[in-house]
Amino acid sequence: MLRIVVDPRDPDPALLTPAADALLAGSLVAFPTETVYGLGAAAFDRAAVGAVFAAKGRPIDDPLIVHIASPSSVGDVVAEVSPEMQALIERHWPGPLTIVARRSGAVPDVVTAGRDTVAVRCPDHPVAHLLLELAGVAVVAPSANRFSYVSPTTADHVVEDLGEAVDVVVDAGPTPVGIESTIVSVVGDRVSVLRRGAVEVDADFDAEAPSSLAPGRLTTHYSPRARTVAIAAHGDPAAAGPGGVHVGFDDSAAAPGWRLVSLGKRDDLGAVARHLYATLRDVDALGPDLIVVELCGSGGLGEAIDDRLRRAAGGNVLD
Ligand code: TXA
Ligand code: MG
Repeated sequence: MLRIVVDPRDPDPALLTPAADALLAGSLVAFPTETVYGLGAAAFDRAAVGAVFAAKGRPIDDPLIVHIASPSSVGDVVAEVSPEMQALIERHWPGPLTIVARRSGAVPDVVTAGRDTVAVRCPDHPVAHLLLELAGVAVVAPSANRFSYVSPTTADHVVEDLGEAVDVVVDAGPTPVGIESTIVSVVGDRVSVLRRGAVEVDADFDAEAPSSLAPGRLTTHYSPRARTVAIAAHGDPAAAGPGGVHVGFDDSAAAPGWRLVSLGKRDDLGAVARHLYATLRDVDALGPDLIVVELCGSGGLGEAIDDRLRRAAGGNVLD
């Protein structure tokens, strides 16, 4: 595996060119986006896209997000840009919003798991942007973790999870947002949220769509290996068991027999999102019998964070 270290704000094109060339040669390239690290492959290269599923251990019926360098390339991926989609693009791209729309016939079935829709996003990270621009092609990129494990926010996380299954890892330090993009669907006559995430759109649109529309919305996801239980904000971890690690906040109540690991201030949700996955991974590495994750109980970005925490607990929520 080749590891390329670049400046997150001002990456050197000469350093990134081998990564772009690797994508064009059908190799797998992990790279940072503003949300989490993605495992990239050229979207129109069926064999390379197949290798992404194999490297992650991901079921082939779970479709991938296509990443583009610039909003103007969206026509290569979708059948048409509706007025609703255009409004979302103007408001949020580049940025952590993924839009599900009717796909262009050119997008391979392996990308969309045979669906007639495709998920597309234009990331807002200088390294992702330059890599996509140098490659000159659309790139699929699921989060670069083993299927159902915690998403990666550093290059080390990627290496720990995927090792030699990845050909190139572009290392630009920790990702600035820390949780995945928000996914909205513009298919049909209304815009609906399929996955809460880094961008808040709840105030603008309908409630979440049924989970059948969002194949990746599994109850167990982003999960540590240790048994994990979620408790309500300010809840008592002792309700879940005799002891273990309590992932909470600076103002969480410490309980006897529990080691409290804080995600930070409960009202500094940007920082909590940034630290969430690295903290879950660090805690999991301690090998505890039980992890209790405390929900933050806040609106906005807090809902996306609590969604991740409930799934980390496999839906095992005491509240
Ligand atoms: O922030 C992100 O979105 C990151 C970075 C790397 O861009 N990517 C990411 O990809 O989170 P992934 O594969 O881990 O999650 C993508 C989700 C999956 O739950 C998948 O089922 C859903 O998007 N998805 C993809 N295509 C879809 C489609 N056509 N319709 C509905 N859901 C779709
Ligand atoms: Mg993922």
